[in-house]
Amino acid sequence: MIELTKGIIVKKRKKVIVLVCAGLLILITFAAFFNGLVVRRYTVKTDKLNSGESFRLVLIADLHSHIYGDDQSELVSLIRKQEPDAILLVGDIADDKKPLTGVRLLLEGIREISPVYYVTGNHEFWLYSIEQTKDEFREYGVRVLENEYDHLKVDDINIVFAGVEDPDIRLFKEFSYDWAGEMEDAFLPLRSESGFKVLLAHRPELIDEYKKFDFDLVVSGHSHGGQIRIPLFVNGFYAPDQGWFPRYAGGRYKHGALTHIVSRGTSNPLFIPRVFNPPELAVIDVVGGT
Ligand SMILES: [Fe+2]
Repeated sequence: MIELTKGIIVKKRKKVIVLVCAGLLILITFAAFFNGLVVRRYTVKTDKLNSGESFRLVLIADLHSHIYGDDQSELVSLIRKQEPDAILLVGDIADDKKPLTGVRLLLEGIREISPVYYVTGNHEFWLYSIEQTKDEFREYGVRVLENEYDHLKVDDINIVFAGVEDPDIRLFKEFSYDWAGEMEDAFLPLRSESGFKVLLAHRPELIDEYKKFDFDLVVSGHSHGGQIRIPLFVNGFYAPDQGWFPRYAGGRYKHGALTHIVSRGTSNPLFIPRVFNPPELAVIDVVGGT
């Protein structure tokens, strides 16, 4: 009788373990392949702002003309909810293999929310109609930054937004075109400017170039979060121009006083899955303090 009862208990335990394992597997699979839009938040402290002062940036990279919800409503309302002081579009917002519909819907939706700044990514150059593409952005009131900078005042805070052209601009220039030299001409004068200085630069792996200048914050995209991630173990398996196990797959990186934030991208690709890597909107709060 005792043996029979023990047998029943062991069988029940086995059943519970199998059920728990199956449940965990379902949960992990769901988490791994969840591709809904998420908000990733960063706080950047700076002594350039007084204690109690702050401003908020929304960073969008690598949309690749994807449409979220009816007429881009999901993405636009998520951006609006963040109440940003500026929206930064850091390249590959358009895609060379897709119509511009998703871009136009986004720009129409966000034009009244806050000032919008944009720099090119490689895919916009691959459209082979870069000037028309930039004009499309301008038509929606976007400030297109072509190796130049602009000022924005938020309350009493002075912010400088600079933007560098994607290196694929070289496809359309003379062989002697010096991408790094153009940056130097554009951004060395920043040393005499005051304010919190932000650089929009599509490619994160070129951080050593950006570090030569007087920026407080650099924002990038391009790496798509390394496409496949294993939380706590692998921050991305592969990224364009960085290869396997990319150093700048996504997240926050510190280089002395400079903070570099790399978006994991807002794209939702159909062919290469994003694993543990949902498309994101990065929200950056810059706050006064040390
Ligand atoms: Fe890119």
